[in-house]
Amino acid sequence: MPSNMKGRSFLRLMDCTPEEVNMLIDMAIDLKKMKRIGVYGKKLEGKNVALIFEKASTRTRCAFVVACYDEGAHPEYLGKDDIQLGKKETVKDTARVLGRMFDGIQFRGFKHETVEELAKWSGVPVWNGLTDKFHPTQVLADFQTVKEKFGYLKGIKFAYIGDGRNNMANSLMEGAAMVGMDYRIVSPKSLHPEAGLVNQCNEFAKKTEASITITDNIAEGVKGADVLYTDVWASMGEEDKIPERIALLKPYQITMDMVKKTGNPEVIFLHCLPSFHNNETDLSKKFPDICEATDEVFESKHSLVFDEAENRVHTIKAVMIATLGN
Ligand code: CP
Ligand code: NVA
Repeated sequence: MPSNMKGRSFLRLMDCTPEEVNMLIDMAIDLKKMKRIGVYGKKLEGKNVALIFEKASTRTRCAFVVACYDEGAHPEYLGKDDIQLGKKETVKDTARVLGRMFDGIQFRGFKHETVEELAKWSGVPVWNGLTDKFHPTQVLADFQTVKEKFGYLKGIKFAYIGDGRNNMANSLMEGAAMVGMDYRIVSPKSLHPEAGLVNQCNEFAKKTEASITITDNIAEGVKGADVLYTDVWASMGEEDKIPERIALLKPYQITMDMVKKTGNPEVIFLHCLPSFHNNETDLSKKFPDICEATDEVFESKHSLVFDEAENRVHTIKAVMIATLGN
């Protein structure tokens, strides 16, 4: 039991030590096994958990709710039109009110500063369920999926292809640096990550023997990869950028040809989801070239995206137990 995480918030992976990141992943693997054989715990019994959502969510919301019920906590959903956060009440005041009523708070929204403000003033653990800058709980589920497939994380060749400066690319870079992966961001130069964050990750990489490569060269970036990862080309809040992103990122679409370019027949395909991979959604009907991966790859034997989605619940449960559990 990671008692040293008790009472702490989880806003980005760098809030943890590398040992803690590895431990959360191992906890999630164990919690998954227990749930599969029908054994549930009471580690969150009597806890009240607030779930604040400024943006839409399927997986994160459901994972928090299911994880709470599995361990005996009570979750309360607070959508963007349900509370005053930042509109008629400061984030600081809402944080202090919620902290008097709830034992833990999840926040999904736009500005990373909002989740920092909640953590600063609520007095209870706050968990980042996605901001414009980071999506740390997703990375735990991604790495759990990698560990279940390959048995280890250190040295894994992990290629992230697409929008190299979004919340997923950033959080995966932090996570990869912490667990010692060979992490590559493969994207056009105009979408490369902020130098400051790359430098911070490189500092970690020195200790963990990770390596971080940022390139616009697809062949170089995917060579030998164990994991091909992508995300939508325009994140929530960037819908007006869809046409320009399609023009920039079309060559970076994950295709079977790219899978073959890795030279690794065991390579896996991961995606945080939701994903455009066919023309069956409203947006992909409107923008037929929006797909960041082809349907062929998404539905192929390489794709572990639904294991990865399931793992959201086990990893989020691990985070809540580690920081709040009885
Ligand atoms: N991957 C992820 O965070 O999914 P949701 O947006 O559905 O929560
Ligand atoms: N980058 C995406 C991730 C969704 C889980 C977004 O922020 O919309």
